[in-house]
Amino acid sequence: MTAQFRIQRTTSPKPARAANETPAFGTVFTDHMCLIDFHEGKGWHDARIVPYGGMPADPASTVLHYGQAIFDGLKGFRGQDGVIRLFRPRAHAERLNRSAERLCIPALDVDTVVETFVRLVDIDRDWVPSAPGTAIYLRPTVIANENYLGVRPAHAYTYFLILSPVGAYYAEGTAPVAILVEDELVRAAPGGLGAAKTPANYAASLLAAERAKKKGYTQVLWLDAVHRKYLEEVGTMNIMVKIAGEVITPPLSDSILAGVTRDSVLTLLKDWGVKTSERPVSIDDVAEAAAKGTLEEMWGTGTAAVVSPVGRLGYKGKDITINGGKTGPLTQKLYDSITAIQYGKAPDPHGWTMPVMPAR
Ligand SMILES: Cc1ncc(COP(=O)(O)O)c(C=O)c1O
Repeated sequence: MTAQFRIQRTTSPKPARAANETPAFGTVFTDHMCLIDFHEGKGWHDARIVPYGGMPADPASTVLHYGQAIFDGLKGFRGQDGVIRLFRPRAHAERLNRSAERLCIPALDVDTVVETFVRLVDIDRDWVPSAPGTAIYLRPTVIANENYLGVRPAHAYTYFLILSPVGAYYAEGTAPVAILVEDELVRAAPGGLGAAKTPANYAASLLAAERAKKKGYTQVLWLDAVHRKYLEEVGTMNIMVKIAGEVITPPLSDSILAGVTRDSVLTLLKDWGVKTSERPVSIDDVAEAAAKGTLEEMWGTGTAAVVSPVGRLGYKGKDITINGGKTGPLTQKLYDSITAIQYGKAPDPHGWTMPVMPAR
């Protein structure tokens, strides 16, 4: 792969380097992007890094009509030692391929995808911010890109990777968020797309999220589509709840995204000897535990916010306050431990980080 990787550097780098800034999430993009094309009969080809810029889209491009697209999201962190580390890039590249399979998109070579992460971050390394809590966010995406109307898998695709220096995802930072339990609208159903990272899932979530915001909540807690009872995800995060000393998280299914942070958190909890269970947990279980005083902590896990404590849960017109609306001790320990690994401040016993060494 390395031999075929073309690089065309920008001749007009943007002046505003973001090294010490913490721009709002997803608003600033770096100088370069990476592209790879797919055409039927030719496979994936022409991996290249080029100046960041618009990609001309034909109005007949299939992605615009039928939404055949996938993406992923991961971060790189600049440590105090100056080293930039990607967090679990391979797990994200592998998940991109699982999403591809569900959306009938041709599989990518995982090593090549990881190489695009490393090379692009290396080229735009000056953009990786250094302030605490900041990171470079990587957004690999694949879109169907054939000019054709008709519902079938496309014959042409574009992979692109863009980078965005980011601060905290939620305005609350790591402070607890208020979540509304959504018992009417559904994000994903059994047999559907929920386990894939595809734009349709996010489109499906918008109305509920907007309604929740109007009521003063940050995000929604999704319940399962069949019983409208079991916890699924919280906003764009996996959900975990600590009841009477046990951390419970819903088992992975075809309506839940297999979060890389979820897996990391479960691994750490097991390392620490904390009792964990991947089993269905109903909103009634949560309400009952709150009434009994055994609902200890609740948090969401995701790349953007790492671990995000839930301080208040709106359900059937009433609010359940969790841990007095404060960040719980285990939530805090998880946040501190994962970020310490990400920033290279603590040992990385599971080999989760990949340093991005300068090519020259
Ligand atoms: C719907 C959804 N669930 C869960 C997650 C958390 O996944 P990860 O920890 O890999 O970021 C995300 C974010 O990627 C998401 O969009």
